[in-house]
Formats: sequence, structure tokens, C-alpha cells
Amino acid sequence: MPRIAPKQDFLSVADLAEEIPALLARADRLKRDRARGILPPTLRGRNLGLIFEKPSTRTRTSFEVAMNDLGGHALYFSAKDLQLGRGETIGDTARVLSRYLDGIAYRAFRHADVVALAAGASIPVINALDDLEHPCQILADLLTMRERWGGRFRGKRLAWIGDGNNVLHSLLLGAAIVGLDLAVATPPRYAPQPDVVARARQFARATRSTLTFGTDPSEAARGADALYTDVWVSMGDEAEQAARETAFQGYQINDALLARAQSDAFVLHDLPAHRGQEITDAVLDGPRSAAWDQAENRLHAQKALLERLLARRSRGR
Ligand code: CP
Ligand code: NVA
Repeated sequence: MPRIAPKQDFLSVADLAEEIPALLARADRLKRDRARGILPPTLRGRNLGLIFEKPSTRTRTSFEVAMNDLGGHALYFSAKDLQLGRGETIGDTARVLSRYLDGIAYRAFRHADVVALAAGASIPVINALDDLEHPCQILADLLTMRERWGGRFRGKRLAWIGDGNNVLHSLLLGAAIVGLDLAVATPPRYAPQPDVVARARQFARATRSTLTFGTDPSEAARGADALYTDVWVSMGDEAEQAARETAFQGYQINDALLARAQSDAFVLHDLPAHRGQEITDAVLDGPRSAAWDQAENRLHAQKALLERLLARRSRGR
């Protein structure tokens, strides 16, 4: 009997904390190889299910292309395509899909549902965004910063301008894990969750990175090496749209805010952008925008992740 290693999920950036530097190095290698037309078939015969309760451009496409490039296959289901939409339980769905697939990437409204799918599945489950985290995004973001800073995070400072949301939660963990300083500016009622901040602070103590929290975008941006923003209204928050559009006035990356940062600072946005709200056209389309590299890097980062989770394990039940 082949030895079956326990499955590894990726529901939070913290789940692979010790392995993030190696994943980024592998992603960098895969990116260089792809540019030279080299596509190693490391996931030949592997099948990844994608279950998406919310729309996606980047996450879905990058997972499907990643599996194809590495010799595997991806199957996409909107939640309503599955019997899940008619009341089959998450646990039963997980159990059945584990008999066919080698991994599942799940984009859900509720983090608890991602946890339930992982608990019921005997195969790795990847959080493809929920209301708590967006860990795959942060792998790509770290890859983007790593390549622009020549592999160094220590001594660099990133400023987050905007909502204390899923992307910020994963970014807090990721920054603290790699030793990057992060200055956060959110409107007062939109700070990140205290339990996530506490977990990030644990990592930050080990790497001696600095996490600061405030409400002033100008203060956070001052002297920063990069600025990062995300939408004011995330998927699932639409009922709060009007209140959020009022609360987030001034939380915009524009030329004036960028002028507060280092002269070589660049700008990150996970996309999709709401142009004219959290970021201006001039910045997003300008020479200091890293958003398009960031979007491309979803592909390379997820390949490294998929190899780690899907390739090394014998099929088990
Ligand atoms: N950044 C990101 O996750 O984009 P999609 O919603 O298009 O997947
Ligand atoms: N915070 C955003 C990210 C989209 C990729 C959302 O959850 O809608």
C-alpha cells in the first residue's frame, strides 16, 4: 500500500506559513519556465474541482489555466449547478467529490462553509475567496512584491488604504509571515477583525515585522514602498453600498496620495477595480501600477500551490 500523507488544505494564508518562501520561489521558477515555453507536466492525471458561489474573472481563469498548463484538468461548477443548490449537504458533496477529484477550490459567501467542505473532504480544499480571507490572492501579491523588490521584504513598508476585508485579512497574515511592514488605514467602523489581527501579530513577533492601524490614508501612505487598495463594497456587502460609499470617501489611491509614498513606490490592486472610487484611472493605468502583473501572478502562484497540495499525495479516501 502506498503511504498516504495527510491532506493539506489552504483555507488561510496561515495554513502554509512556513512554506510561503518556497512557494514563491517555485512560482517564480514556473513563471520563467512558462515564458520560455516550458510547461512541466507535474499535475498529469490530476483533477481540480472549482465550486464558485460568486462571480470570478481572475481566480477561475488562473486555476483552469494552471491545471491545463501542468497537464491536469479543472472542472467548474457554479453552486447552483450542483445538487448543493437543491439542499444536498456540504458534507455529502465533499464526500462524493473526494471520490473523483484530487482537490477542490471553493469560492463561498461564508467561511464556515469552506471549513465544512474541508472537514468533509478527504482531498485538499483551497479557499478561492470567502468573507474572511482570500489567501490565493495574497500569494500572487507577495510574488509581485518579491519580484519588484529583488526578493526582499524586510525593511519594506506596504500601506493598505480601504476596507478591513477578506483581502486585508490575508494580507496581514502574509505580510507578518514574510517580515514585511504593513500600515493599515481603514474608516473607523471598517477595521479588520481583531482575531485575525491577533494571529498576524503572533507571526509579526517572530519575523519582527511592524503592523500599524489607523484611519488616515495620508499617514499610512507617507514614505511607503507600495500602496494597496481594494473595492469599497465587496461581494456580499451590496446591501451596505450606500453607507459604504459615504464612509469610504477619501480612501482613494490617487496621484496626491501616491505622492506621499516613496518616489519609486508602486500600486497594488487585486481587481476588479471600481475606477473613480478606491483608485483613479490615472493611477491604475499609470506607470506605477503593478495591478496587471499582480493579476498575471495569480496563475504562477497558484501553480506552485497546486503542485504542493495535489502532486505529492497518493490518492486516498
Ligand atoms: N482578484 C480576484 O480574485 O478576482 P476575481 O474575483 O475576478 O477572481
Ligand atoms: N474584497 C473583494 C475581493 C474581490 C476579488 C470581494 O470580496 O469582493
